[in-house]
Amino acid sequence: MATTSAAERAVDINHLRELAQKRLPVALFDNLDNGNEDDVAVRHNGEALRALKLVHRVLRDTSRRDASASLFGKRHGLPLVIAPTGVTSWISYRGEVALARAAATANIPFVLTSTTNTPMETVRKEGGGTQWYQPVVWQDTRATLEEIDRARRAGFDGLVLSVDTTIGFNQPRDKRRGLTFPMKFRPSHLIEAVHHPRWTFGTACRYLLTERRLPGFANVTVPSALTPAERKRFLVRDDSLTWDFLRRVRDSWPHALIVKGLLHPDDALSAADAGADAVVVSNHGGRTIDAAPAPIELLPEVVAAVGGRVPVLVDGGFTRGSDVLKAVALGADAVMIGRATLYGLAAGGELGAQRALTILREEVERTMGALGLTRLSELGRDVLLTPGDLASLLVAAR
Ligand SMILES: Cc1cc2nc3c(=O)[nH]c(=O)nc-3n(C[C@H](O)[C@H](O)[C@H](O)COP(=O)(O)O)c2cc1C
Repeated sequence: MATTSAAERAVDINHLRELAQKRLPVALFDNLDNGNEDDVAVRHNGEALRALKLVHRVLRDTSRRDASASLFGKRHGLPLVIAPTGVTSWISYRGEVALARAAATANIPFVLTSTTNTPMETVRKEGGGTQWYQPVVWQDTRATLEEIDRARRAGFDGLVLSVDTTIGFNQPRDKRRGLTFPMKFRPSHLIEAVHHPRWTFGTACRYLLTERRLPGFANVTVPSALTPAERKRFLVRDDSLTWDFLRRVRDSWPHALIVKGLLHPDDALSAADAGADAVVVSNHGGRTIDAAPAPIELLPEVVAAVGGRVPVLVDGGFTRGSDVLKAVALGADAVMIGRATLYGLAAGGELGAQRALTILREEVERTMGALGLTRLSELGRDVLLTPGDLASLLVAAR
């Protein structure tokens, strides 16, 4: 008789997070779970979502609920996209393939990032479904444009240009633990490996046995003639990028172009002017500026600024189906999720990631029913209360 794993029996995303924490070495778990500096932004992303309230309507027939949503002319199972995350290979053996497959099963898009171990062609083929590619822009932008062309030839349906990471992060905990680039091995890593045998044998040793090395960057085209010092200089993000680069990418990419990592409404407008087909309101999961506002707080301004010219996506702190509905009520076309599916992946590989998506689907559908809705298009600002709305209700009642 087939047995189900703890991840497949998880009841919510918090439960998957706990399982992930047990499964991963502490430095790796913290790297995926934390934000930047004091973790203020990462906490605030969740708090800002939880501060929004949904008002239910009653005695409506909600027996046939449909949470499907369209993006770029394709109908998807949910208004969700799996966000690009660069640690998938370390979290689970061939984690990027597992995430792509889980996304395909749920019929939602998956975004593959450059800094993963499995070649993009393999992920595209074995993962199936709708896939977008996110190139990291290094010092040599010609190499990035070549990588983008490789993604076109591999058959990716969309390109995500993340514009908020031209400056590296400041993650003091990671630095103290030697989780820098290149990684500095410490005796504590060995102790952690001994204490997390499922990860050590299931992920690290499996790479050593099959590839004779730990995960690297299979999709970054580093010229082979470089010395180690030149290679280190090459793998530094380009902090001189301007809107011109976006226009160059637009000229070379024939499919959907999604600009990710904007907060300011004027930047969203500039992206649409430069030819973007969609924008993602994001603070990189709280990993860039610790003083950043939560993307959900700026979503209404961005939606108003772009005025329907391009779809607007949002991410940061989404762990409940009700969070997703709040974003849709504020005008988002879809929500990107990062950590929620990473927890599932860490807890139970592809089946764990699938479980994360099933949990979110069930919560979305359940909350739609409780709100009196059968379709996402019925969801509007009228059922949502912000802390500002609640304060004015109190003032009006005085
Ligand atoms: C561990 C980790 C790695 C990430 N790597 C990338 C990346 O390589 N490229 C990128 O555009 N965003 C990256 N992000 C940001 C995500 O795409 C997304 O914006 C963020 O995770 C959303 O917030 P959430 O994790 O609260 O859902 C990463 C996020 C995490 C947590």
